Amino acid sequence: MPDDRYSNRSRRESMLPFSPPDIGQEEIDEVVDSLRSGWITTGPKTARFEQALREYLGCENVIALNSATAGLFLCLKALGIGPGDEVITTPYTFAATVNIILHAGAVPVLVDVRREDFNLDPIRVKEAVTKRTRAVIPVHFAGRSCDMDAIGAIAKRHDLAVIEDAAHAIGSEYRGRKIGSISRFTVFSFHAVKNLTTGEGGAVTTNDGGMADRLRAMALHGMDKDAWKRFAPGGRWQYDIVTPGYKYNMMDLQAALGIHQLRKLDGNLIKRKNIVDQYRNGLSGIPQIALPGDPADGRHCWHLFPLLIDFAKLKIDRDRFIELLQQENISSNVHYLPVHLFSYYRETLGFKPGDLPVAEDLSAREITLPLYTRMTPGDVGDVICAVRKILFNNIK
Ligand SMILES: Cc1ncc(COP(=O)(O)O)c(C=O)c1O
Repeated sequence: MPDDRYSNRSRRESMLPFSPPDIGQEEIDEVVDSLRSGWITTGPKTARFEQALREYLGCENVIALNSATAGLFLCLKALGIGPGDEVITTPYTFAATVNIILHAGAVPVLVDVRREDFNLDPIRVKEAVTKRTRAVIPVHFAGRSCDMDAIGAIAKRHDLAVIEDAAHAIGSEYRGRKIGSISRFTVFSFHAVKNLTTGEGGAVTTNDGGMADRLRAMALHGMDKDAWKRFAPGGRWQYDIVTPGYKYNMMDLQAALGIHQLRKLDGNLIKRKNIVDQYRNGLSGIPQIALPGDPADGRHCWHLFPLLIDFAKLKIDRDRFIELLQQENISSNVHYLPVHLFSYYRETLGFKPGDLPVAEDLSAREITLPLYTRMTPGDVGDVICAVRKILFNNIK
């Protein structure tokens, strides 16, 4: 399928990275300000970041943490979920979503996803509910929101907690509502590759004030007040331990990045969407490629651009495709190998290939292309050109 715009380009000169962070002078200045201030751990900047997130997301409570993994785990612990309980989630995610269920002592029940959006299939969720089910963890894959009305209705009927894994989904919307304002709990990641980064970091949002207090205490040793409040003017040194907590607090050094990253988020989402539009333009109409779609009723934050390639129609497999992309100086990635096929889950939970066929089929065909705010139209063109070249050179 010749396309003049993307033909006859030579290999790019330098390696195109997959997803470097976009850190500006404002972030650097804010970190330096913290370093000079004498207070570098959880303190005023973490409080400012939490407040800004509350306003942006339209939710009542935000607890900033050192990772999304910590946030997901804390939600299960705050709900008292443990041995004897089941938690339904997706195999189409990063292992952390499932690991935390095991850490809590509960049983992960993995159900298959929908072909159109890689997300939990509400019909399968409904079928998987038992008397032991306590919670559902939907994952908004790539930033495209799950069908939260359908999942919420099942949860309500069976009295299940919904904990949204929104590691990919800061800025996404579902039916006019921001992800982060819908369910009992939502958990974001601010890991280095995310649309909003604090290096490492995460946050839980909840409109349940009692749960927010519990999460806050559990994130910092189970203390009833954090160090910043104790050392602030008028603060008292005394504290109580109200539960044997963990050590999951966010540092001001991280929040310093987050404050500015959040200010830039909506502008960055437009940049990401423009890159996606260029990808779609350059890769549409190729029968061996399926492009990711838009949600019918929401805003996609385009954390990832997952391409599905029909390798059955090519002379090469995915590993070779990725290798050839690398030779063209284009980084890429795979999201995800379905969690149930990793050795630990096969050996301990008894999963085998074929158990979750949609997730397995999507995973076998997936390659994620580079997507980051500083990509130029020339960079995107280089990726399109390389993908087209490899594909057209290898059709059976
Ligand atoms: C879907 C999903 N859930 C959870 C996590 C864990 O996030 P964190 O690295 O902030 O713990 C990730 C990380 O990439 C993720 O992609």
